[in-house]
Amino acid sequence: MAFTTTPSGASCGATIDGLALDQPLSSDLIAELRAQWLEHKVLIFPQQQLTPSQLVTFSEQFGAIGEDPFFGHIDEHPKVAAVQRSAHEKTAIFAEIFHSDWSFLALPPAGTVLYGITIPPMGGETLFANQVLAYEQLPDELSRQVEDLIALHSAALGYAPDGAYGEQDQALGRSMKILPSERARDTHAHPLIRTHHENGSKALFSSAAYITGFTGMAPEESESLLMALYAHQTQPEFIYTHRWETGMVVMWDNRSLLHAATGGYDGHDRLLHRTTIADTQF
Ligand code: SIN
Repeated sequence: MAFTTTPSGASCGATIDGLALDQPLSSDLIAELRAQWLEHKVLIFPQQQLTPSQLVTFSEQFGAIGEDPFFGHIDEHPKVAAVQRSAHEKTAIFAEIFHSDWSFLALPPAGTVLYGITIPPMGGETLFANQVLAYEQLPDELSRQVEDLIALHSAALGYAPDGAYGEQDQALGRSMKILPSERARDTHAHPLIRTHHENGSKALFSSAAYITGFTGMAPEESESLLMALYAHQTQPEFIYTHRWETGMVVMWDNRSLLHAATGGYDGHDRLLHRTTIADTQF
């Protein structure tokens, strides 16, 4: 089966046409797709029709399904989560801060797959920020500050009972199944500059969403460095804005990107199914 690759023209992202993902793909084809994935960081497969089981089968061709520590799953499919928001929901947009999925785990996931099921007529784009470019274009001053830094990652701000998706948020009636827990306070340390174990590229592995500080640095200094980094990492030239269509499958590399959800679709439902692809090493 041949496919064509059309780069987005932005800092990352490419559309793959010519493949039906409801069929198992040959190992040669998976190897070719993996090479495209590593190069473009976000692959977009339009016009697919996948059951939850087929979404899992597709995802597992790129690695084992990873842990989703604070998500519930959809009925009968423990490996699939629903990213969803109802038309009249009043909760904050889920995941509106740039982040790398579950970066606070000891071994964060390699990738994430989202499949568009109910797509609003406007808004709800996903933004991807290329962190290899952000690393390469670090201003000298920031570059000197971040070399060799170790960041402390934790989910506390989001998923602890008193976090953004904690008990108060649940009381507002969020339709997405989020499972806040004390476990969100666990902390894991990762280098701020991450070398990709599959292609050797270096990227900024940092986001104000999950980093609570840097080892050996005072809290105020950590906070101001995080903010300066965030402003640099999310500049328009590093961003690809993904516009969803029903039936699109999007697979991204958490090791070289940050991503963020956007709103702008109040009054409309939005539903995507999501799988997480585990990594084999940091
Ligand atoms: C996510 O971060 O998994 C959600 C992205 C989105 O809703 O666009």
